[in-house]
Amino acid sequence: MPLTARRAGPIKGRARIPGDKSISHRALLFGLLAVGESEIEGLLEGEDVLATAKACGQLGARVERKAPGSWRIAGAGLGSLLAPREAIDFGNSGTGVRLMMGLAAGHPIETVFDGDASLRSRPMRRVLDPLAKMGTEILEQAEGGRLPVRIRGARDPFPIEYESPVPSAQVKSAVLLCGLAAPGETAVIEREATRDHTERMLSYFGADVEVSKHGAHGRRVTVKGRPRLAPQKLRVPGDPSSAAFPVAAALIVRDSDLVLEGLLDNPSRTGLLTTLKEMGADIEEIARREESGETVVDLRVRGSALKGVDVPPERAPSMIDEYPVLAVIASFAEGDTIMRGLSELRVKESDRLAAVAAGLEANGVSHEIRGDDLIVHGTGRAPGGGEVKTHMDHRIAMSFLMMGLASDKPVRIDDASFVATSFPDFVPLMRSLGADIS
Ligand code: S3P
Repeated sequence: MPLTARRAGPIKGRARIPGDKSISHRALLFGLLAVGESEIEGLLEGEDVLATAKACGQLGARVERKAPGSWRIAGAGLGSLLAPREAIDFGNSGTGVRLMMGLAAGHPIETVFDGDASLRSRPMRRVLDPLAKMGTEILEQAEGGRLPVRIRGARDPFPIEYESPVPSAQVKSAVLLCGLAAPGETAVIEREATRDHTERMLSYFGADVEVSKHGAHGRRVTVKGRPRLAPQKLRVPGDPSSAAFPVAAALIVRDSDLVLEGLLDNPSRTGLLTTLKEMGADIEEIARREESGETVVDLRVRGSALKGVDVPPERAPSMIDEYPVLAVIASFAEGDTIMRGLSELRVKESDRLAAVAAGLEANGVSHEIRGDDLIVHGTGRAPGGGEVKTHMDHRIAMSFLMMGLASDKPVRIDDASFVATSFPDFVPLMRSLGADIS
């Protein structure tokens, strides 16, 4: 499904962004682990999260959709997951598969994990290695530690202390989730702090979690095994990673004025906003409140004259999914934007560093890759006129559609179907705000 975005009027109006993807996955997983019924409001109904919902059913939960965004899950209970009869297919979702591997690894069951061509190309060893240390048997795996993977979890996983070699919330979460089934304390040390939704939700469901500082930018997270997890009522805040696209559109399209409501405001996710403000973006917080252990805000965003900035590598974990759209925004800024320390972008739904560079190239935006850094030489405008290959990657698709709303010539993407993994109503929502996408 190709799509083309063209320059039209300003982006105007009010919008509610769909539920946060990271929190939606975790809400279902914790619902699976608690005995009794958890209620979730505002669940993201993107394909990635729906795959996790289905997987929870395969492992013994009763999962029910009561109304749009409103779900009930009756958990199987920690220690009582059932062995699924068939392979669990996570589609495009790295978060779903890696977190669920952690859970299954703490149960004496055999599980086969699989996914689409993009997910089959992504590294799983980063999760399988620590889980093997905890006693999981890796029965089968494709070359290079890829999916499909068959594991047999441990009846009594060893509680370990694990220092992750990669800054990844998925790796951290997989180890902590397996550690829930272990007798004793499991600890994860991360040199760079990554998103902390697993830790927050562990506490919210009643587990004993301790977090302390580790080094300049890192953290040590400890969870006490075998807690009693009580079912909860949760409201999922709006996803800042999805909001990044309309925010980008409002900044780069002249005379725009947009209000976005109910966005998650968690410091482990706000790197893009920090960066945009440094670039001179007119972004104003107009309300703030607490919902289910997270803070949410309403933001007003207006068309802005932006300048290039230097984004430090330690900020990467707090905006890891936002670099493609930042590269697009940086094309419309005056001067160089230097994005440092992007090695993890190479192992996302696509090699995002390569996909972004190719998209900029196709649309006449001057840029370079130096090692793990991306430099966009912004000139205040983007020529456009190119076709972007999206490589089964929703964020590449949405980022370059935003470019087309402000570039001289239209921007076409080859395939918009993967947008449904994280933001099913993206195109109608953007159109309702004034975007020309057809
Ligand atoms: C996520 C963690 C990040 C992020 C992904 C969601 C999560 O991946 O890119 O979209 O929910 O834990 P890594 O932990 O591999 O960096």
